[in-house]
Amino acid sequence: MRTKTRWYQNATIYAIDVKTFADGTGDGVGDFAGLTDRLDYLAGLGIDCVWLLPFYPSPNRDNGYDVTDYYGVDSRYGTLGDFVEFVREADRRGIRVLVDLVVNHTSDQHPWFRAARSDPDSKYRDYYVWVDDPPEWPDPDRGPVFPGEEDAVWSYDEEAEAFYYHRFYHFQPDLNVANPDVREEIRKIMGFWLQLGVSGFRVDAATLLIDNKGGLESTRLDDPHGVLRDMRRFVERRGDDAVLLAEADDDPRNLASYFGAGDEVNVLLNFLLDAYLVAALAEERAAPLREVFDLLPEIPEEGQWANFLRNFDELNVGRLPKSYQKTVFERFAPDDEMRIYGRGIRRRLAPMLAGVSGSEATGGPPDESGGDRDRIELAYSLLFSLPGTPLVVYGDEIGMGDDLSLPGRNAVRTPMQWSAEKNGGFSTAESEALVRPPISGGRYGYETVNVADQRGDPNSLLQWFSRLIHARRECPEIGRGDCELLDTGDPAVFAHRMVGEENAVVAVHNLGESPTSVTLSLAGDPIRLFGRDGGVEFERVETGEWRFELGRYGYCWVRIR
Ligand code: GLC
Repeated sequence: MRTKTRWYQNATIYAIDVKTFADGTGDGVGDFAGLTDRLDYLAGLGIDCVWLLPFYPSPNRDNGYDVTDYYGVDSRYGTLGDFVEFVREADRRGIRVLVDLVVNHTSDQHPWFRAARSDPDSKYRDYYVWVDDPPEWPDPDRGPVFPGEEDAVWSYDEEAEAFYYHRFYHFQPDLNVANPDVREEIRKIMGFWLQLGVSGFRVDAATLLIDNKGGLESTRLDDPHGVLRDMRRFVERRGDDAVLLAEADDDPRNLASYFGAGDEVNVLLNFLLDAYLVAALAEERAAPLREVFDLLPEIPEEGQWANFLRNFDELNVGRLPKSYQKTVFERFAPDDEMRIYGRGIRRRLAPMLAGVSGSEATGGPPDESGGDRDRIELAYSLLFSLPGTPLVVYGDEIGMGDDLSLPGRNAVRTPMQWSAEKNGGFSTAESEALVRPPISGGRYGYETVNVADQRGDPNSLLQWFSRLIHARRECPEIGRGDCELLDTGDPAVFAHRMVGEENAVVAVHNLGESPTSVTLSLAGDPIRLFGRDGGVEFERVETGEWRFELGRYGYCWVRIR
């Protein structure tokens, strides 16, 4: 049991890409004005914290992860003034804001890189990683992150007459973090946004940030984790309760290192759990989920996992055993066009679980969410009951689909579907002006799947989601308790107990389609906290023994005093 609670341990995080969330100015691009207008929606949903994807000035060749100015708001999304208004309005509703910190690389249009390439004597030259001759046999552990889209990590720059290093796209030169001036820049950037009231940062590509860039002697850090420790110290000094939430889809054996001795990142995105959870959903068996608990390291007292099912990138299954990968691909991404980079799936959760693509436009929806409602509920109920802080991407609360006709990862980055009105209520602009086309027609089109319709319907997925988020808030045991896996005797049923200071929460999930019942030994009498309406019941069979009746993809959370 952890003794001290910090805000993020009992929060629900909601991920937003400003440009596709809500257009307040009518020019076809989402912006801070639109987002601020939707804060009451977010407050009603019950979320505690939003994570904003990059909104900084950018040529936008990698969805804003190619930054040209760390101190601004891209004019398409508003001004710094609009940002400050947003943070203030969020704060008034008790919602915290985390922003993406993309300092593994800049855009090649960033003034630092422009100076670096044009003048070898510029102090910015050494902000990046250069060689005259790239190694003939590139390090196999340091290949391109997006295979198929980039085939090298060294690109020649005509102006500089040298090769620069980039793990992502060629237009994203890596910053040389071994240079103390670069680390000073990172502190200044963090200081700026903290001063504007953010509660911390999602540290993009943390693994690569602290890597020995290009494998060169000149970029080798004596103490790579010192970079993260230094950032944490700074954030703690400058921010009121601010935190680091890091992206590190790393080997399981390295995961503990990002927490350090409780002095590096506070929260780590749980890519490993995501992959195994999806494997369990695909296999309809608890085994993969039980296995991941042996792979995940112990974390320090104030550390936390951020658990998610989907994000705005590919769903990476590359760390799963081959047999699980096979099932996941077969069940959730049967067509080639649904897969990406040889390791991932570019679909939203709802169509993945329903086995149908968002662009498949025929057939009446089985329910208002467009997907397999029972299975979506099962997946999210399970996610929210697992040790950690749940993270949801915008649109998943209404069961949005994907658009596989869009290139790459953009398939899951379509505009938020607010209503059945023009452009799904996202924008009043003409469709040619829209930043991305909203999904229209078919099971997942905005005409069928949207906030307005679901808001008025007590049985909607949206209303269910809000109940889930509120139930999770009432269970601090899940955020900071100890987790014990329970034997259920049924391979399809996963049950676990989260033990808090005084009480415990037991959650039971049937990953299978067939109804079943399991008997569990509970150390007290269960009180129902959350479950499918009318879907699951439990009864005492003996002293301390309780039988749970679980329907198709049934689930139930109870509290034990
Ligand atoms: C992270 C982001 C991804 C981006 C990459 C490069 O992985 O989630 O969208 O392409 O970093 O910044």
